[in-house]
Amino acid sequence: MAIRFTLNGDETTLDVDPAKPLLWTLREDIGLPGTKLGCGAGLCGACTVHVDGVATRSCITPVGLIEGQSVTTIEAAGADPVGRHVVAAWCALDVPQCGYCQAGQIMNATAFLHEVPEPTDADIDAAMAGNLCRCASYTRIRAAIKDAAH
Ligand code: FES
Repeated sequence: MAIRFTLNGDETTLDVDPAKPLLWTLREDIGLPGTKLGCGAGLCGACTVHVDGVATRSCITPVGLIEGQSVTTIEAAGADPVGRHVVAAWCALDVPQCGYCQAGQIMNATAFLHEVPEPTDADIDAAMAGNLCRCASYTRIRAAIKDAAH
């Protein structure tokens, strides 16, 4: 079935099973490996992308549901003015340890800062609570979000 959507600013048409998770469509059919598989069950946030600007867990989002919508992945995070600040802060503060969860962290942080441009620590902790990091980089993540907010 042909699915039409915008991907990182480009009109895209794919002939794909509409039930296939967006995560695997991005990685296997389109060749964008930046979006990661963690739990595969909507629980860890590693696979977070934006769908029409909303942070979305691509592992549990059937690609058929994004027909006509706009998807942004970590590969285009820097094209967004807020995302650019987030990526710069992540680099400046050396946030990642192993790095595996960080694409999802950055995508969630960017969507959050669009909604709450001047967050408190409590706002950040609440917004990021669903993005797990096995290296426990949470303190640096919070600092980077505060840095990006300025
Ligand atoms: Fe999607 Fe964990 S891989 S939420």
